Amino acid sequence: MTYSIKSRALALAIAAVGAVLVVAAAHLAPAQDAAPAAAPATTTDPAAQPAEAPAPVDPLVQKGEYLARAGNCVSCHTRPGGEPFTGGLAFQLPSYSFLGEIHSTNITPDPETGIGTWTEEQFIRAMHSGVAADGSHLLPAFPYTAFTLVADDDVKAIWAYLKTVPPVKYTPPSNGIAFAMRWPVAFWNALFFKEGRYQADAKQSDEWNRGAYLVEGLGHCSACHTPRNLLLAERADMKYAGGTQPDLVAEGKIRTWSAANLTSAASGLGPWPVEQIAKYLKLGHSTKAGIFGPMNEVIINSLQHLTEEDTKAMAVYLKSLPPLGESPTQTISDEQRTAGGALYKTHCDECHSNSGRGAFLKAPPVAASAIVQAANPASLLNVILYGAKVGAGSPSPFGAWEDMPSFQSKMTDAEIATLANFLRTNWDNRGGAVSAADVAKQR
Ligand code: HEC
Ligand code: HEC
Ligand code: HEC
Repeated sequence: MTYSIKSRALALAIAAVGAVLVVAAAHLAPAQDAAPAAAPATTTDPAAQPAEAPAPVDPLVQKGEYLARAGNCVSCHTRPGGEPFTGGLAFQLPSYSFLGEIHSTNITPDPETGIGTWTEEQFIRAMHSGVAADGSHLLPAFPYTAFTLVADDDVKAIWAYLKTVPPVKYTPPSNGIAFAMRWPVAFWNALFFKEGRYQADAKQSDEWNRGAYLVEGLGHCSACHTPRNLLLAERADMKYAGGTQPDLVAEGKIRTWSAANLTSAASGLGPWPVEQIAKYLKLGHSTKAGIFGPMNEVIINSLQHLTEEDTKAMAVYLKSLPPLGESPTQTISDEQRTAGGALYKTHCDECHSNSGRGAFLKAPPVAASAIVQAANPASLLNVILYGAKVGAGSPSPFGAWEDMPSFQSKMTDAEIATLANFLRTNWDNRGGAVSAADVAKQR
């Protein structure tokens, strides 16, 4: 990187704003619990509309609703127990907690507390440039860095839909004092934000372009799946190689999660056929994995509502990402390997099988798993400590399998580290060493 930061104060200010970025995932209380139940019962299939629907639905509004789902506006703009789109969900960065929290805004059409007095132009400017109606900069916790790619017509459809959402009077709590100052965002934008609509790649198929448009734009997958630099901007050289963000591991408990490598690396989606990626995105399970953790919210509130054509297109695009960020090979001592193998046999073998390939009606594979091999073992350790649960409202309510139980009271930190090292080096898996201290951080 070639920029230099002259003043310490400015550096701090930029860091403060940059810090907010990670919030993309730092849901203090993810809307996952609240949103699916509270979200209006809607459907993208006109044939399935209730017969007593009061008025015929405007196709533009319907299109906008579909696109709002693709952008998962509801997950970030709904606090637990709140009405959809009324905002107030808190975001913070644990290691920067002195900066305070920021809150998502009310985007219902209430004229006083929501965006009822906004014009369509102002809404388009917010989505494309990250600028609010009053001209101030929005914090990059709002993923305008991805939404800038969304075509004008699609933004207009989302606007038409949001105007039909019931207006609700609700003012989210005010942001931490550090975030009251919005001018530093201009500097951050100058360094890291590239405004502009998606440009189709003529060398690729229509399907690939549709997938790229959804993944890069409304889907904002890279917000979680790309590692960030010191100022918390996504690293262009490591796109989709796997990021980290804080989120719930259990009721009221926030820990780091590592978002899997989505490139074609062997420690990413390399071993997944396109059909299995598409199935996972649409149904929440495939022969390769089932949903748990932060992906519950992404699939339950957003991806399951997309058409099969669209989730397939996303899979086609993801499958084309060149491999990046392979995990290093780790060598563990024979002694540790034996100990890890014994722990696996006692606790895991029953469902994941001796071959690591999982078992029909039992569990997905741990061999070649992106979660097991991730450079940062946080999600692997979370799964072992807290179990893996399919969230309420999943497209496959009972998952493909029974939930995986929690092992936090059954093993010490050292044992879990030994087991993790066994998983990361057995079969053809490759992953760096895990220590007891790594496990302690996730407890
Ligand atoms: C990853 C979380 C996240 C997602 C997803 C998200 N938003 Fe937001 N949004 C925020 C946050 C946080 C803010 C507040 C930013 C600030 O205070 O500067 C915000 C602010 C906004 C604003 C500015 C409102 C105002 O009063 O200034 C609009 C408009 C908006 N979002 C619309 C949307 C739409 C439409 C979608 C879906 C297509 C969406 N957002 C998806 C987090 C999100
Ligand atoms: C809020 C952050 C977040 C967003 C947004 C997000 N992901 Fe994820 N994703 C994660 C995390 C964390 C994991 C690993 C733990 C888990 O599965 O929840 C993951 C795991 C995955 C996996 C691997 C699952 C497995 O078990 O091997 C796939 C595939 C995936 N995500 C695809 C996507 C796609 C496609 C998008 C965009 C539409 C997306 N994700 C958006 C956080 C996110
Ligand atoms: C009762 C059966 C069962 C047992 C025992 C079990 N698991 Fe699981 N495991 C599952 C299921 C089911 C899933 C998929 C969860 C979902 O769909 O939400 C899973 C998922 C996982 C994943 C995520 C894989 C991926 O790529 O998405 C890992 C890693 C994992 N288990 C490791 C372990 C380890 C290590 C043990 C032993 C300590 C273990 N499991 C014990 C059933 C089990």
